[in-house]
Amino acid sequence: MESPFEILGVDSDADDAEIERAYRRRVKESHPDHGGSAEEFQAVYAAYREILNGYDGEGGADDGEGADRPSRRGDANGRGDEDDEDEPEESRVEFLNYEVLDDHGWALDDDDLFEKASAAGLDPADYGEIPVEPNQSLLEAAEDQGFAWPYACRGGACANCAVAVIEGEMEMDSSNILPSEMIADGIRLSCLNAPITDEMKVVYNVKHLPNLDELKLPPDRFERAHLND
Ligand code: FES
Repeated sequence: MESPFEILGVDSDADDAEIERAYRRRVKESHPDHGGSAEEFQAVYAAYREILNGYDGEGGADDGEGADRPSRRGDANGRGDEDDEDEPEESRVEFLNYEVLDDHGWALDDDDLFEKASAAGLDPADYGEIPVEPNQSLLEAAEDQGFAWPYACRGGACANCAVAVIEGEMEMDSSNILPSEMIADGIRLSCLNAPITDEMKVVYNVKHLPNLDELKLPPDRFERAHLND
């Protein structure tokens, strides 16, 4: 059985930057739209997660004792676990569907985007507000309220569930597929992460944004993969 390093195609002593580059290369190679398969795509993602979690090169995760490969996890903003105790009790998230922006001639960077959405009499699936429990992902919270927001892998390996954070902040684990410039622009993955402010405004369904479109995965390919598990 291949080790996580072999799946990514790097040496077991590769540094973080090499692993990151290898992961991005292998994600593209294994994407079903580029000749790979959903199973291969998921194996690449699982290998990357294992390494981030401190895979010791001997078939298991290390115990953290004097290891030269401690957990590589931490969010993209450089925050670590020390922020966990600051999590809010519950957040209120105002949401807007990216698909309605074009219809109304709105743009993501409009200062009054949510004011216009609030006054436009939009369908409740396109504009509204949801509560998000502590440690609940935004996608789960939307689904709990009966909304069908887009997703595919539910594991950080595609961009199907991406949202644009317009106001407030959302945590972001670095073990995901998003390029750092998209993260800096406020793009987050709703399947993995939760709000870290009491109130937040997000535009969901932004998977068609430039740079995100190529990271998408057709959801039906994952559904077929799970049926074969
Ligand atoms: S559904 Fe694939 S990263 Fe969220």
